[in-house]
Amino acid sequence: MTIPREQGLDHTITLMSEGYTYIPDRRRQFQSDIFQTRLMGQKVICMGGEEAARIFYDPAKFTRKGALPKRIQQSIFGKNGVQMQDGAQHKHRKEMFMKLMAPERINDLAAIAKEQWEVALAGWEKRHRLVLMPETEEIMCRIACQWAGVPLWANELTRRTRDLAAMIDAFGAVGPRHWKGRMARNRTERWIMQLIEQVRNGTLTPRAETALSHISWHRDLQGHLLPVHTAAVDVINILRPIVAVARYVTYGALAMHAFPEAKQKLQNDAGAYTGMFVQEVRRYYPFTPFLGARVRHDFNWDGHSFKKGTLVLLDVYGTNHDPNLWDEPEEFQPERFRNWDGGLFDFIPQGGGRYNSNHRCAGESITLAIIRTSLECLANRLDYEVPQQDMTYSMVRMPSVPKSRFVIKNIATL
Ligand code: HEM
Repeated sequence: MTIPREQGLDHTITLMSEGYTYIPDRRRQFQSDIFQTRLMGQKVICMGGEEAARIFYDPAKFTRKGALPKRIQQSIFGKNGVQMQDGAQHKHRKEMFMKLMAPERINDLAAIAKEQWEVALAGWEKRHRLVLMPETEEIMCRIACQWAGVPLWANELTRRTRDLAAMIDAFGAVGPRHWKGRMARNRTERWIMQLIEQVRNGTLTPRAETALSHISWHRDLQGHLLPVHTAAVDVINILRPIVAVARYVTYGALAMHAFPEAKQKLQNDAGAYTGMFVQEVRRYYPFTPFLGARVRHDFNWDGHSFKKGTLVLLDVYGTNHDPNLWDEPEEFQPERFRNWDGGLFDFIPQGGGRYNSNHRCAGESITLAIIRTSLECLANRLDYEVPQQDMTYSMVRMPSVPKSRFVIKNIATL
């Protein structure tokens, strides 16, 4: 069976000008969960939906080697981090990450998050007006550093936060936004490399259970410590995405504003509704658009042939909005998660499959815990007004964000 093909020489510019909707729109037009196109001068297969995700996460069929464009490595992910490992190396490194996510460590994190929100809220009371996203990024940076054992001086909070946030914002960017992310990565790597050297020479002693300690002392399958640069990349793989959670918190605040009846349910909730609300925020709003991998060996799936080396993109946003998987996918309905069976491949805002054997996000439980704590604070501990502003979010800019970053005013704590 031939894969439906988008005609034309190259569609990179179309992808950049359509953003999150590029793959889902073509899946609809071709009436196919899979189609072929050309991007960045090469043949690319795009696919989405539950079965496509299941195949994409089969490590026998796909490799991450050579899948990430250089510009993404230079800004967001860095080189040789866990994302780029395959097979036994990946499993070994990922196990180290997953040890950091043990239930007691997640409880520690939730407690730190609560404490940091309380500190922030005490300061907010005196403010007439503030922009939620950058403020939340600073709170997340404090949470991330405290939890990971990374010392952070008060006078460096703002610039470290801005750098971690700039790396996230560089995804899908060309021009100044990309360069900002790249310079931010260079500065952050230098900072964390110094800390790792201090841990290794005994001048800094973070608590043993922290990410900084674990990663500094992690040994690879050959028994060697990680090169200092690689260890820094993986410490940043903890700090940067915790700061990224600020985007979900901002979307959560937007959802409370846009759907007041949902906010009321949050305020009256004993636990279950908040969990569903958090999931719906991750499903509904655009964050990760797609993921890439290369075909490891020739294989056939559903009558389609995949040739070794071909770049394949998995439609993350489109799978979370797939009408075959979600009733009324364009409606914000937290209750839909009441009956969700926890499938590994139908709801993939942070990747799919299993934590240990696949590339699924190591920090998903942490993300859920932080969003929950943050939204509980915003819903129950804070009273505020939402002034006129442009809070729309683009479906083209990747990663997207409400344009105003969500302004609030006349703030009072409850
Ligand atoms: C991987 C999204 C938060 C650590 C990923 C992947 C996605 C993702 C899409 C890639 C999955 C794949 O390649 O198949 C997000 C989003 C977050 C978030 C949207 C919240 C805003 C976190 C947090 C942490 C974290 C809080 C850690 C504290 C990681 C790591 C990987 C990863 C280490 C690499 C896993 C691997 O390659 O095996 N994340 N993530 N993420 N995430 Fe997250």
